[in-house]
Amino acid sequence: MAEFEGKSVIVTGGALGIGGATSEAFAVEGANVTILDWSEDAGKEIVASIESKGGVAQFVHADAGTRNGCISTVDAAVNAYGGVDIVFNNVGIQPPDSYVDAVDLPEEMWDKIINVNLKSRYWMAKFSVPHMRRVGGGVIISSASVQGLQSMGGVSAYAASKGGDLSLMRQMSLDFAADNIRVVCVNPGAIDTPMVRNAIEGTGGNLEDELISTAQAHPLGRIGQPEDIANMVLFLASDKASFITGSYFNVDGGLMAMGAWADTVGSDGSN
Ligand SMILES: NC(=O)c1ccc[n+]([C@@H]2O[C@H](COP(=O)([O-])OP(=O)(O)OC[C@H]3O[C@@H](n4cnc5c(N)ncnc54)[C@H](O)[C@@H]3O)[C@@H](O)[C@H]2O)c1
Repeated sequence: MAEFEGKSVIVTGGALGIGGATSEAFAVEGANVTILDWSEDAGKEIVASIESKGGVAQFVHADAGTRNGCISTVDAAVNAYGGVDIVFNNVGIQPPDSYVDAVDLPEEMWDKIINVNLKSRYWMAKFSVPHMRRVGGGVIISSASVQGLQSMGGVSAYAASKGGDLSLMRQMSLDFAADNIRVVCVNPGAIDTPMVRNAIEGTGGNLEDELISTAQAHPLGRIGQPEDIANMVLFLASDKASFITGSYFNVDGGLMAMGAWADTVGSDGSN
C-alpha cells in the first residue's frame, strides 16, 4: 500500500516550486491532495498532471493570506476527502520590491508578507486542528527558511515572518501534543523555484551568474531542487517521524553549518 493511501493532505502554495513538487509526491504516495494557490493556471495544471498519473487532487483558487482563503481550503478538503490529516504550510512570498530596509518598506507590503507567510499558519491551524482532533491526530509542517535562523540585508518582513514561523511551530507543538498532532518546520536553503528566479531577475541580477554563485555558496556545491524539500516533508509527515515534534530541519546543502568567516568552501577543505 502507498505510504499516504487515503490521507487528506493540504498543500498551501501547492501549484509551483516546492509546493508543486510536494503535492505531486504526496499524490504518488496515495494521498488525496487539496492544493491552495492563487495562480489559477498553475493550479489547474498540477491537478491535471496528478490525475494523468492516476492520483487524486483538487484545486482551491484563493489567497492564502486571507481568512476566507484558508477556511475554504479546509472546508474543501473535509467535503471532498472526509477530513484533514496533514497540512503543509508551504505558501510564502518575497516580492523583489520588498528588498528594502524597514524605513522604506511600505506598511502594505509588510502586512502582505506577514499575512501570507505567517498569519496563514495560524488560520490553517485554527481551521484544521479541530478536524485532526476528531480523528485522533495529524501533522502540520511549515516551510520556514534558513532566513528564520540567520539574516541578510533588506528582508525585514520576510525574516520576521520566518522567525515567527519557527516560533509558532515550537509553540503549537506544545499546545497540540496531547492531541497527537505533530508540528514541525523545514528550512530550505536556496531552492531552484520561480520565487528564487523572480527575486534574482526582479532585483536586477543576471540569472545564470547568480544561480551559479548561489550554488557555490552552498557547501554541497549545488542549488537545491524542490524534490529535496518534498522528500523531507514526506518523511516528516510519515509514521517514521512519529517521535518528532517541535523541531526544525535544515535542508540547505550545509549552508547553516558554515560560519560567517567561511567566505569560500573548497571540496578539499581549502578556503
Ligand atoms: N526557494 C527557496 O530558495 C526558498 C528558501 C527558503 C524558504 N523558502 C520557502 O518555501 C516556500 C515555497 O517557496 P518557493 O520557492 O517554492 O515559492 P514559489 O514562489 O516558487 O512558489 C510559491 C507558490 O505559492 C503560490 N502563492 C504565492 N502567494 C500565494 C497566496 N497569497 N495565496 C495562494 N498561493 C500563493 C504561488 O502561486 C506558487 O504556486 C515559501 O514559504 C518560501 O518562503 C523557499
